[in-house]
Amino acid sequence: MIRLEVPLGSRSYPVVVGASAICEFESLVPDGVSRIAFVTQPGINVSLETELPSRVHMLPDGEAAKKLSVVEELCSVFANDGLTRRDLVVGIGGGVVTDVAGFAASIYHRGIQVMHAPTTLLGQIDAAIGGKTGVNIPEGKNLIGAFWQPSGVICDTDVLMSLPEREFRSGMGELAKYHFLGGEGLDELSLEERVAACIQIKADIVAADEREGSSRALLNYGHTLAHALEIEGSFDLRHGEAVAIGIQYAALVAHAMGRIDEARLAEHGRVLDVYGLPRSLPDGCDVDRVMELFGRDKKAINGLTFVLDGPDGLSVVPDVPEKTLKDVLTQM
Ligand code: GLY
Repeated sequence: MIRLEVPLGSRSYPVVVGASAICEFESLVPDGVSRIAFVTQPGINVSLETELPSRVHMLPDGEAAKKLSVVEELCSVFANDGLTRRDLVVGIGGGVVTDVAGFAASIYHRGIQVMHAPTTLLGQIDAAIGGKTGVNIPEGKNLIGAFWQPSGVICDTDVLMSLPEREFRSGMGELAKYHFLGGEGLDELSLEERVAACIQIKADIVAADEREGSSRALLNYGHTLAHALEIEGSFDLRHGEAVAIGIQYAALVAHAMGRIDEARLAEHGRVLDVYGLPRSLPDGCDVDRVMELFGRDKKAINGLTFVLDGPDGLSVVPDVPEKTLKDVLTQM
């Protein structure tokens, strides 16, 4: 078992990673908790043992659960169960569950403790770590939410063994980005060590910039194109697959701008290939539509802004020339 910490002063919390990590749950429950609300989704089939009174609340299936009405219903069941500010919400599932459970916890009684037991690779190395919570509205994804750090996170790597192959590979798209955030050699580690190494990188970034004023934005490497492909909506792409295509694109843009050399560009291709991830635009992708969607990106305040690799590693680059962005899209 590997034990890490997200160091945030009085809000620091442990992350336990390894086979059978869910057995550590009871020992991580904060003192004073008298009741637990487990929040999960159909088909997850992971349960945590506790001697405290508890109830399991099932969210609707899929991304449809990420809406305000679901959070309101969840808060009503917390109230009906008599949950107080001293009690605990536990999200068991992928990013949808930890986002919704975390957000409900951030507002119920003006903030109640939450723990996460992420059951997907993407959840373990990204979504459940760092306190981002939220829901979607028709105007955009994650537009309503809060930074609400959990009291602990349990990443049971045994649980990942039963993920559908494509879901697991999709998580590798998020994992690939950590290679370029100081995680060179990640592919040589065991799964448990690899998950822990990614969490350590993310914990360090979150500790330095919890509310994404600067360096936390680097975690969005590959995400500008990924979000555009996801918003476009007509492609059969998982989030991690879209991120992989976005990483390849960002590397090609950085190369076209003279920020990285051939060898570094080739390293991007190697990493994406190691994890069996896609590197080209999906068939039927409309370059003009993608360019339009880039303009709607949350970072697009000073022209088109991308996280790009360069001589000193990743950085947030404003005003990336539109012509370069379009030429590289066309060549892809
Ligand atoms: N998923 C990116 C972040 O947590 O900042």
